[in-house]
Amino acid sequence: MSDFTPRVFSGIQPSGGLTLGNYLGAMKRFVDMQNAGTHETIYCMVDQHAITVWQNPEDLRKNTRELAAGFIASGIDPEKSILFNQSQVAEHAQLGWVFNCVARMGWMKRMTQWKDKAGKNSENASLGLFGYPALMAADILIYHATHVPVGEDQKQHLELTRDIAMKFNNDFGTDFFPITEPVIEGAATRVMSLRDGSKKMSKSDPSDMSRINLTDTADDIAKKIRKAKTDPEPLPDTLDGLADRPEARNLINIYAALNDQSPDAVVAEFAGQQFGAFKPALADLAVAKMSPISGEMARLMQDQAEIDRILKRGADRAREIAAPILEKTYDLVGMVR
Ligand code: TYM
Repeated sequence: MSDFTPRVFSGIQPSGGLTLGNYLGAMKRFVDMQNAGTHETIYCMVDQHAITVWQNPEDLRKNTRELAAGFIASGIDPEKSILFNQSQVAEHAQLGWVFNCVARMGWMKRMTQWKDKAGKNSENASLGLFGYPALMAADILIYHATHVPVGEDQKQHLELTRDIAMKFNNDFGTDFFPITEPVIEGAATRVMSLRDGSKKMSKSDPSDMSRINLTDTADDIAKKIRKAKTDPEPLPDTLDGLADRPEARNLINIYAALNDQSPDAVVAEFAGQQFGAFKPALADLAVAKMSPISGEMARLMQDQAEIDRILKRGADRAREIAAPILEKTYDLVGMVR
């Protein structure tokens, strides 16, 4: 893999309602990778993935701009990183088609996210939802990205991306596509619901109390943390003591990720204390870290022309990398150009 430029790609769906899970599992880590300066960083609003399930057109437009504002408010600098909207760079869908012809039905049917999302009604799910992971592989490989930061829930899709790259390379006798490394690191790769420690924090959970939204007010954030499900025990001395206490473990992980600490250090700091003491400390920390982001998002949303300008420039920069990679792919496949 040494021949490939160190390059990070990741994407988020503009399907509305960014959560603390998206922020800690993805956006905050995208910012850290941008600022580390060790890789080129490319971040994308994947609107073509969003439409694999129904999106109201007006909402999709608003959510795409709001996600762009969320990226920038979280610390993505459109000068340092390439920030753009997927449908503005046609090469994603074009390479996606080639990968539809590389990926096997059997591979796709094993995707747990497909099984979860399509559920019992899979006959009625869109073809796009089934092919979703092949387009995701195209998002990554159209830039020859070497590293992809994501939350735990995307792990299987990244394994499929590697399988697609390997099969393409093998079928066409080349080493053209890198075998991308997933980057699933830190305390918050799986932020859980505040109401049920066995469920992922998600924008689709029917209970708004289960999640912190990036647009929540300081009062909302504090209230949700105060009411978060816990148990009556005090915090233990070490992390091992939280093995069977998923809700408590989740709050510790959130605190650690927000404060750039390890979960061990947080447990050591609060050892022996009750949630009556820990929760207010967590609420203060969450408000201090999240409120400036929601404030900045709201400010940026007032100038949509500026957001659109940033996205257009990001798309132009993205295309400069993507276009030659698509051309070479077509050439390898034997398409006359
Ligand atoms: P999406 O839009 O569902 O989520 C965006 C990112 O947020 C992470 N995430 C979480 N992390 C920790 N705890 C949670 N509760 C939580 N909820 C969400 C996700 O893991 C993800 O990193 N398929 C992707 C979008 C995508 C993509 C790509 C990602 C399309 N193409 C190429 C990487 C590379 C998705 O649906 O993410």
